[in-house]
Amino acid sequence: MNEASADGGLILGIETSCDETAAAIVSRGRRTLSNVVASQIATHARYGGVVPELASREHLRNIVPVVHTALAEAGVTFEDLDAVAVTEGPGLAGALLVGISYAKALAFAIAKPLISVNHLEGHIHAVLLEQAERQTETDEWPALALVVSGGHTNLYAASKRGARFFYRNIGRTVDDAAGEAFDKVAKLLGLGYPGGPWIDALAPHGDPNAVSFSFAQVKRKAHRAGLAGTTGKSRSGERLREEFLFSFSGIKTAVLRYVQTHNLLPSIERRRSALAALARPRPEDALALCDGETLGLIASFQRAVVDDLRRKSFRAVEATGARSLLVSGGVAANRELRSRFAAEAAEHGIPIAFPALSLSTDNAAMIAAAAWPKFESTAFAAPDLTAQPRLSLGAIAS
Ligand code: KG4
Ligand code: ZN
Repeated sequence: MNEASADGGLILGIETSCDETAAAIVSRGRRTLSNVVASQIATHARYGGVVPELASREHLRNIVPVVHTALAEAGVTFEDLDAVAVTEGPGLAGALLVGISYAKALAFAIAKPLISVNHLEGHIHAVLLEQAERQTETDEWPALALVVSGGHTNLYAASKRGARFFYRNIGRTVDDAAGEAFDKVAKLLGLGYPGGPWIDALAPHGDPNAVSFSFAQVKRKAHRAGLAGTTGKSRSGERLREEFLFSFSGIKTAVLRYVQTHNLLPSIERRRSALAALARPRPEDALALCDGETLGLIASFQRAVVDDLRRKSFRAVEATGARSLLVSGGVAANRELRSRFAAEAAEHGIPIAFPALSLSTDNAAMIAAAAWPKFESTAFAAPDLTAQPRLSLGAIAS
């Protein structure tokens, strides 16, 4: 053990819920000693989305070297660990199983406790870990947490009692996640994968008011999903307020309609093949291949999504009496989202926090950090721990 790890409380976090094989060592849930991520972007890019079978195979290939690198970078050995933490769900079943099987076998072999972590709680703890490391903790509870990624768009009322965290799910998407919309729109426009960073980089070059998009369809969708009404119970027993529901599949269709009616398909095809011819295409390459109309469409799409997330999040802050706002998940890396959320938070005089960019997208440091309070309260995983692909977080709001 070296000086950095002398504080002890060392948790090895393992994350394999989607397309990143990740391992990290975090001390006492507050200090990251290593954070290793093996990205599978190159594997899935040619399909324009994650292929589950390929993801599992890549995790199998990567898990051992990634864990060894995390230990080496932290300067610790298996014997130094206090516990092993792993993502239980939600995520792809096969992908989750690789991490869980490895973590179970490892914990057994080194006779250390195993802790299961909900991936969504992990994203929230990415913000808390960042605050702890920068010593910018506000400790303003209850908080409103927006988790917005490629697989999720959720609003949680989060509270803390002692060292324990409690969550109430007060809003979610009724169809696509916001990150999914970024990915699908980028694909539709002949840009790279995953789409979020490409749209983020191109949007500042376009007019965000060029195209107007509306989210009026949420209401209709909510009814279809059985989630209508501010007080009524849905078929699934959920009580979610319509005003906190999201829907991002309509905007994707609206972009497609715009592309068709404005005859953008030939230029999209030119862009797609020009980028495909490059060994490592980057957003800067795409910029030269986009005209003003396309850039306006991209900027307007991003503005619409960011504003919808912002409006509903701040309405939820007011409705729940939250004293701070935590924004996390891959889409929280978006620069326009960060600046517009920060501006509105300043107007409301409410503290807002985001994770560092490296902790916004999937990683294992957030899993190790979320595991720390569970370690302290000896909330260890049962021996029959298995993948929970549809795991949700917290009680449903009532
Ligand atoms: O949290 P994450 O790594 O994986 C999930 O749990 O889904 O999020 C990945 C998602 C992708 O949809 C990706 O396009 C989006 O986050 N993303 C972004 C940005 N960076 C990643 N979306 C918008 N702007 C970004 N800068
Ligand atoms: Zn995630």
